[in-house]
Parts: sequence; C-alpha cells; structure tokens
Amino acid sequence: MNNDELIQREYLNKAKACVEEYKRLIGHEPSSCVVTFGCQMNARDSEKLTGILKEAGFTITDDENADLVLYNTCTVRDNANQRVYGRLGHLNSLKKKNPHKKIVLCGCMMQEETVLSKIKESYGFVDLIFGTHNIFKFAELLCRMFESDGMIVDIWKDCDRIVEELPTIRKFSYKSGVNIMFGCDNFCSYCIVPYVRGRERSRKSEDIINEIKALADDGVIEIMLLGQNVNSYGKNLDEDITFAKLLSEVENIDGIERIRFMTSHPKDLSDELIEVMKDSKKICRHLHLPLQAGSNKILKAMNRRYTKESYIDLALKIRDKIPDIALTTDIIVGFPGETDEDVDDTIDVIKKVGFDNAFTFIYSKRTGTPAASMEQVDEDTVKRNFDRVLKVVQETARNAVSQYEGKVMDALCESVNEHDKAMLDGRLSNNTIVHFKGDDALIGKIVPVRLVECHGFYFTGELCRNL
Ligand code: 5AD
Ligand code: SF4
Repeated sequence: MNNDELIQREYLNKAKACVEEYKRLIGHEPSSCVVTFGCQMNARDSEKLTGILKEAGFTITDDENADLVLYNTCTVRDNANQRVYGRLGHLNSLKKKNPHKKIVLCGCMMQEETVLSKIKESYGFVDLIFGTHNIFKFAELLCRMFESDGMIVDIWKDCDRIVEELPTIRKFSYKSGVNIMFGCDNFCSYCIVPYVRGRERSRKSEDIINEIKALADDGVIEIMLLGQNVNSYGKNLDEDITFAKLLSEVENIDGIERIRFMTSHPKDLSDELIEVMKDSKKICRHLHLPLQAGSNKILKAMNRRYTKESYIDLALKIRDKIPDIALTTDIIVGFPGETDEDVDDTIDVIKKVGFDNAFTFIYSKRTGTPAASMEQVDEDTVKRNFDRVLKVVQETARNAVSQYEGKVMDALCESVNEHDKAMLDGRLSNNTIVHFKGDDALIGKIVPVRLVECHGFYFTGELCRNL
C-alpha cells in the first residue's frame, strides 16, 4: 500500500463517523446510489466509489431516491452532458422532498471549466464535485462534504500518481475490469479525452498481475484490461514490457479463463500482439479497432496517424491470422469538412473489412479541441450520411455474425434476461450475445450453447447439456 492509500484508509475511518452522525440526523440507515455514464473506465471507477460508500456505512441501491446520489459523468459527446443536466433537474425535485439528500458529481464532465461554472451558477443544490484525477480522495471528500454546508469543489488539472488499492465493490462476481493505464496522449483532433483524463501513464505490470491474481482468488474468471490506448502500454515505464508481453503474463494466471481488452489504436497494434492473440487459449476472439473515418483527408484532419489503406491491410492481416476473430469499430460521421465522397470511403472500408459490429456516432463539437474551430458540416448532410453508414454497418454485421448460425459455441452466462426471466444472457468469446433458456445457477459459468437463430447483432440459442 502506498502513502496515498494509507492516508485515504484513515479518512475512511473518519468518514464512517460522519456517516454515523448522518444516520442519527436522518433517522434511518443511509442509502446511496451510484449512476455511471460513459465507458468501461468509468464503470470501473464507479466500483471503487461504491466500495468506499459501502465501507463508510452506506447501503447500496439503484434507486435515485437514495440519501446520497452520485453521478459519475462522461463528456465524450455533448449528448452525455445534456443527459446529466436533465437528470440533475429531477434530482433537485427529489432533494426538495428530502432536504438532507446529498448530491455528488464526478468524472470527465467535471474537468471542463464551462461545465463547472454552469453547475455553480444554476445547480447550487449539488453538495460535492470532484474530477477524474482525485477520485482516490473520495473518502476525504466525503468527510469535507459532511463537515460543510456549502458546495465542495475539488478538481485537479492532472495527476501522475496511481492509487488503486482501495475498497472496491464489483458489479459482477465473475468478471472485472482492470486498469492497466490512464489518460491518453494521442490528441485526436475531435476528442476531449486527453484534456479531461490527462497524460498517458501505465501501471507497473507487477501491480496489475497481483490485482488479477487476487481477483482470480475471489472467483473472477473474465477480466478486461482497460486503457484509452492499450497498445501503447508500458511506454513510460522503466520495465522492459509491451502490451503483448503483459497479455502473455496474464494468460499464465490460474483461474482466469477469458481475457479481453479495450481500446486499441490501429497505429500502435503490433505483429507481436497478433501472434500472442493467435496462440492464446484465453484471449477472447474479439478486437475493437476504432476506424473513425475511411477518407485519408479526414483521417489526417483527425490526427489519427494511419491511412485508409493501412487500416484495411491491418484488419485483413488480423482476419487472415485469426480467422474466427470478430472485428468491431467506432465510426464518426460529420467530422468538419467531411463530404459525401469522404463518407463513401468510410463505407468502402466497412464493406472491405466486414465489421461484426460498429458503433456509429454523429460528430459532436467539443470545446477546446482543434476540430471545434474547423468548418462544421450542415446537419442535413450529417443526418443523410449517418443513415447511409448505419445501413451498411447493419448489413455487414448481419453477414459477419450469421456465419456462426447453427454452431455450438461457449458462452459465459452473464445475467438473467430482463424481459424473460426464464432466459439467460450469455456472451461468446467473440463478444456476440446469445439469449437461451437456462437456470440462474449458471450465471458466471461458461457453457456450450447452440446458436439457433441470428437476429442481426445477437443470437437466440439453446443450452447443450450433453457435450
Ligand atoms: N464526437 C463524436 N464521437 C466521438 N468520439 C470521441 N469523440 C467524439 C466526438 N467529439 C467517439 C469515437 C471514440 C468513441 C469512444 O467515441 O468514435 O472511439
Ligand atoms: Fe480520444 Fe483518440 Fe485518445 Fe481515443 S485515442 S481517447 S479517440 S484522443
């Protein structure tokens, strides 16, 4: 445990006393609700925040009527911000009914100065605000919140420390995210992440391996290695390590059956990684490789540092070496200066690579990024091109996914289906979802399932008992 972790453990004891006093004030066991917006990194941060709330004495619920509500925010696109503002209005009305209610905001959106001033000005009922760099100080900030009447704001511009050994409550018993690096140094011209998550820094491999061993001892069978750009893992470390080497080390950990990772940048994906994936029994047959755009002019303006041709070559090389791999991607439509011909290039790549799935986003202007001051595309053109891209994505995805129809594949049973309680949701190694009839005792287990019918991005199937 490092010094920061020791200090925070002490604050946690103090926070327990604060929560005890709060309990006397409100006359019942204090409850808390953590709402996560955005990506897997935020989801993992929320598990840590929940761990601290639980240890401090709060019960945990999904209901926003709770005594403390925390929003862990995202700001990658503007609609994420708008959702938070909308829901804050609702929280305000709940707080009017329960004046002792505590409202906490943290995460990427809070790192933006414009957001902070708006919240201070129009959402004065918020009790505590912190950012992405000082999440580890949550116990200390809780104490400050309980000791003060006004709004507590603590935002750091950057942080080179890595503080990980704090209580965590996992959402799933059988799978977990593991941070291997933080921040991003790529500065794609549309993206706000480097500004709100700071400079890229990797965790020491020994710390990562120890965390995964402890997770395996605790019953976790699937881990997802998390970073904005995992392919450049290790670049700022003194050790002689690459992402591919780290994966090989994780492969040797007993108890871990599946390994996933997010996100890869095409410019840094090495042949070494492809080889390690090919030979691995545990690394899942799935690679998420954000394309963003297919036109060389747009890729250059985006500062992506690869070309349409090099992306296609890379994708086809991966498909050639690992034929059963699923390739998925992110695409942005409507980046400044994008014409119909540029979008034709994007569609061409989608067809040539035949993605198994693609997340398609409309470009969102982010204050402070280079693209925000470029000439924007009119809304009608963006809408028309977005629909064109979506149509091709759906076609190629159905094609790619349906090739497995009729086959028997291993699925990790993840949850009971929300709509039909007799059904389970399983995930194949290639990340495709399959719904099948099964008992909830199977949750957390890997079972063989026959993929009976393809419905575009997912299957319905049946459990094979006698294999
Ligand atoms: N507008 C639209 N989409 C964006 N993304 C990142 N920034 C923006 C933006 N300004 C998308 C990228 C990235 C994914 C996580 O979000 O496609 O890969
Ligand atoms: Fe944003 Fe590019 Fe970094 Fe991804 S790699 S987080 S898109 S700057």
